[in-house]
Amino acid sequence: MPQPPTHVSTPAQLRCIGCDLVADRIAADFRCSTCGDLLEIAYANVFDANKIKALWLDRRTSQLPLDQSGVWRFRELLPPLAAEQVITLREGSTPLYDLPRCAGIAGLRHLTAKHQGMNPTGSFKDTGMTVAASVARQQSFRWVACASTGNTSASMAAYAARGQMRSLVLIPAGKVSWGKLSQALDYGAVTCQLRTDFDGCMRVLNEVIRRMPVYLLNSVNPYRIEGQKTCAIELLEQLDWRPPDHVIVPGGNLGNSSALGKAFLEMKEFGFISALPRISIIQAEGANALVRTMRETNGAKLISVNAETAASAIRIGNPASWKKAVRVLHATGGTVEQVSEVEIALAKAEIGADGIGCEPASAVTLAGLKKLVKQGFVKPGESVVLILTGHLLKDPEFTLKFHRGDLFTGTAHEKAAANLSTQQRAPIVLDASADQVLKELEKADRGSAG
Ligand code: F0G
Repeated sequence: MPQPPTHVSTPAQLRCIGCDLVADRIAADFRCSTCGDLLEIAYANVFDANKIKALWLDRRTSQLPLDQSGVWRFRELLPPLAAEQVITLREGSTPLYDLPRCAGIAGLRHLTAKHQGMNPTGSFKDTGMTVAASVARQQSFRWVACASTGNTSASMAAYAARGQMRSLVLIPAGKVSWGKLSQALDYGAVTCQLRTDFDGCMRVLNEVIRRMPVYLLNSVNPYRIEGQKTCAIELLEQLDWRPPDHVIVPGGNLGNSSALGKAFLEMKEFGFISALPRISIIQAEGANALVRTMRETNGAKLISVNAETAASAIRIGNPASWKKAVRVLHATGGTVEQVSEVEIALAKAEIGADGIGCEPASAVTLAGLKKLVKQGFVKPGESVVLILTGHLLKDPEFTLKFHRGDLFTGTAHEKAAANLSTQQRAPIVLDASADQVLKELEKADRGSAG
């Protein structure tokens, strides 16, 4: 019986993004021991791009678990790890979809979405978690932990369970959708709902990891970022290595935009592509730390905010990876934009009406794109990819409230939401009668014809 290959990868170094120090030891909080900044993994440029592209393609017909993972298929650009240590749920390999209606609404000829919600636990977090959770197992940790707005905790709990580790989840009480909370419970996490926000959970977790040998799985963990890079690599492969003009991504703690940017920059540096897409980051108006940081300081100093948005996944006021994200914006020539609660809700229903759907935080991409087209930053003929980060079923309560028309009842957005009715498709309660159903059908048919 042939043995699965031991994972051979390129020499990778941990380097501080602030002072460039190469770290030989990692602190529990993944920060540089000299200046306190975040670390990242750097690779030596030893790639023959054409050979590796062919190898990656070849692996798509392989039956090995590592090759069937849409993350580990690209392992030449991941930190080295022995194959038997890898915890995989066959993450990645997510589809690219056309969004013809949304393209028309945004004023573009063509629009594409890469749906990271089609991962095993329903969000992009799985692509990073397979790498970082595997490192935790390799290092023999018994406990892993994260603070989360919901998706990280769902993903971490699943990968910890698969890797036979215990997991600790800290989430803001009452601010995580039930879909995500129920995942953490089912996958067996110890789930603590703290009476604070995400940023408060992060503060408590930082103290916990100082006092207990618990492995931190938030996106300050550079191994998470490496796994999340593969979304961009896979996207380029799906586009036959022709980069789009624009990639648009939601911004919360800013790990994902940093990861995608790192991937595109590496792909260019290592000769896989010859041009970079502009990466633009969209935030909710009520959680707009990066937007303010860029507009008020050109990225020099973080402006934290008290976050409030119904797009609970990105309800974050003090994003940990802001410096990495600023670097990506500057290096790719992307921009930042913010969108209102009503704009998010409308965009979400529009993505749904293209037969795709996503969770609220993902819909900021379309809402932001509309603004970028109006401003002329994105031109009608340019190619644009939206990164949809989470599945529609992650937050059914938001969707039901929207279609019933009571999402904004009693909030400051009630008046602005008045014109959403054309997108609202509330369920219709009827007697069990074919006549009544046919009447509704005719009414709907007349509506769509007119
Ligand atoms: N979209 C979704 C669906 C998310 O869950 C998150 C973050 C983001 C976008 C923003 O990504 O933080 O890398 O900028 N969710 C984290 C969590 C914070 O705990 O699940 P980011």
